[in-house]
Formats: sequence, C-alpha cells, structure tokens
Amino acid sequence: MIKTIGVIGTGHLIKHMMPAMIKTGARFLISERGRETSAELADLYDVEICKDNQYIVDHSDILILAVRPFDALTVCDGLSFPDGQTVLSLCAGIASSDLAPAVLPASLVMAMPVVAAQFGESPTLIFPDDPECRALLEFCGPVLALKAEDSFAPAATIACYYGWVQELISQMSDWVSEHGVDPETARLLTAQMTRAAATTVRERPQSPIDELVAELATPRSFTLKGLEVLRAADAFTPWQQAADSLLSSD
Ligand SMILES: NC(=O)c1ccc[n+]([C@@H]2O[C@H](COP(=O)([O-])OP(=O)(O)OC[C@H]3O[C@@H](n4cnc5c(N)ncnc54)[C@H](OP(=O)(O)O)[C@@H]3O)[C@@H](O)[C@H]2O)c1
Repeated sequence: MIKTIGVIGTGHLIKHMMPAMIKTGARFLISERGRETSAELADLYDVEICKDNQYIVDHSDILILAVRPFDALTVCDGLSFPDGQTVLSLCAGIASSDLAPAVLPASLVMAMPVVAAQFGESPTLIFPDDPECRALLEFCGPVLALKAEDSFAPAATIACYYGWVQELISQMSDWVSEHGVDPETARLLTAQMTRAAATTVRERPQSPIDELVAELATPRSFTLKGLEVLRAADAFTPWQQAADSLLSSD
C-alpha cells in the first residue's frame, strides 16, 4: 500500500492523472506552483497543497516529478532526496543518465503516461519496472514495462502519436460532417472507429497487423481503393518522419 505520494509540477498532465491516482487511497502532497491547477485539484480531491518542494520530498514515499523537461534538472538540483525514496519522472525527452544522478541517493523510475489516464486508459511506459510505481500507474491504465533503457525514448514517441491520431480523427470527422452527417455523430463515429481498429489489433496479437489490413483490403474493396490513394501519396512516410524528428537532437 502506497502511503504518501508527492507531486512536483502540478500542471496539465497531473490534472488528468489525479482522477485515477486518487483512487489508490494514498495521501497526496502537491506543489503549489501551477497555482490554478493545484487549487482546482484541492477543490475536487482530498490533496494537500505545499509551498515548499523539499517538504514534499521529505514526506513522500514516491515523488512524482512532472515539471517541464527543461526545468527538471534545476528543480532536482535544488532538493535533497532521501535514500530509499523513489522519484517517478514523467518528464519527456530527458535521459535517465542525466536525471538519475540529480536525485541520488533516491532511485529514479521513468514513466510516460498520456492524459487518457483521466479515464483509466493511458497506456503507460515504465522503466525500470518497479512494483510500487506500477501499482500507482495501473490506476491510470495498462502499464508496459520496457526491458532496456535505450528503448524508452523511441517508445515514448508513441505518447505524441496519441496527439497526432487525435488530429487525424479531427480531419476525418470534419470530412464526414462536411458530407452531411451531423457533427456530433461524425465525431463519435470517427472516434469509435479508431478505437475499434485499435481493439482489433490489440485483441488479435497472433495476427500480423499487415494481415489484418489485408483481410479488409481485398481486391475491388472500398478499403483497398482508399488505401491505394494513401499509398500512392506516400501518406505513411511523414508519420515516421514525425517520429524520427523527436529522436533527433535538432
Ligand atoms: N501534458 C501531457 O500530455 C504530457 C504527457 C506525457 C508527459 N508529459 C510530461 O509531463 C511534464 C509536465 O507536462 P505538463 O503538460 O503537465 O506541463 P505544465 O502544464 O506546464 O506543468 C508543469 C508544472 O510544473 C510547474 N513548475 C515549474 N517549476 C516548478 C518548481 N520549481 N516547483 C514546482 N512546480 C514547478 C509549473 O508551474 P508554473 O506554471 O507556475 O510554471 C507547472 O504547473 C513534462 O515534462 C512533459 O514532458 C506531459
């Protein structure tokens, strides 16, 4: 049972994780900075706002670090962490080789959730696997532990893909409503169809994904007709380029 969870960086991500994390029954100490969000969370949940980050560190079993990546090292350098504490960093794009020394002698666990945590649907990467952090994050959705640290950055790009897919849903939903379907139905239809595609991929792990596509894109099918347009336009390469851009240091 996790007793006390501290949060430094009470912003957009934590706002969406708190509805799930509060279900752990743990005591939460949250940083005051991000004043609007911390006040909003304190109105909604039994959480304690703390002005002093060191106080949060000193009284937490797990310390969640959710400041912006460029603030992470400065924030940690100004704090002293007790031996035996776990610092759970949710910061994107910061290597554990940079952050781990800054939290010594505490140990660092990295995780990458998305805001679907609000609905218990965030697929959350974790490295290294840690039973207490896993128990906490499982309230936010399925936890996926990575076996090697160097796979964390490429795997974490899929947290951005989450946003890119929402843009795609928006474009397709607009197209449907421009063709006479009421916007509410168009939005729900497109969102649910995206979910249906993902569910099939998830629930049929023995089938290679290209076989699932081939089952639909049969000769003279409408699925194949549209797919040929997408392939002729090389529509999928830019998605890989977008992912590549996140791994480059430019
Ligand atoms: N948002 C997402 O969907 C998402 C998803 C996955 C990972 N992440 C990662 O999660 C982290 C937070 O993202 P976010 O979108 O929640 O950012 P955000 O809304 O900007 O929240 C960051 C919070 O950190 C606070 N802060 C900055 N310095 C602080 C300090 N010294 N002490 C206490 N609090 C401090 C900020 O307060 P002020 O406003 O007062 O500066 C702000 O409330 C980032 O590293 C991001 O990469 C975010």
